[in-house]
Amino acid sequence: MDVVEGLDVEREIGRVGEILSEYEKKRGVLITTLHRIQEEHGYLPPEVLQNLSRKLGLPLAEIYSVASFYHQFHFTPRGRKIVRVCMGTACHVRGAPKVLERLQEHFKIDVGETTPDLTMTLETVGCVGCCGLAPVVTINEEVVGELTPKKVDDVIEAIERSNGDGKA
Ligand code: FES
Repeated sequence: MDVVEGLDVEREIGRVGEILSEYEKKRGVLITTLHRIQEEHGYLPPEVLQNLSRKLGLPLAEIYSVASFYHQFHFTPRGRKIVRVCMGTACHVRGAPKVLERLQEHFKIDVGETTPDLTMTLETVGCVGCCGLAPVVTINEEVVGELTPKKVDDVIEAIERSNGDGKA
């Protein structure tokens, strides 16, 4: 047994191994749990993260640090509709900035913001792979292309109509 000044090194190293594997387990559980929380709430509510911190025995700051590393986690409520305006080259040259401007004006929010009634969150995205339909927006999973000013108004109307029935 290797003992340094009264310290049982092997035992201590063994304990470090235990602690590390316990820590790794918690980290593994943490990411999965964060995904579940976000699926349920649409974002990561602070009170739920506090509870998680207590349950896992991980510092809250660490939970935030891990969650911030992954861009798919959100810390504020999101809209029922996530509207993404494609700002890829094809969409850009075919009028995406005007589409974005119209949506910003109508809903009175900027990119990355959510309407106070949680109707929608406005985002931009790079090419979504439907350049032939440019300019394009996505509404949750749905792609709406070949946008004209009239079609943008139809999109706005559909988003407003969907408020409450969960459909576009
Ligand atoms: S640039 Fe918008 S879909 Fe490709």
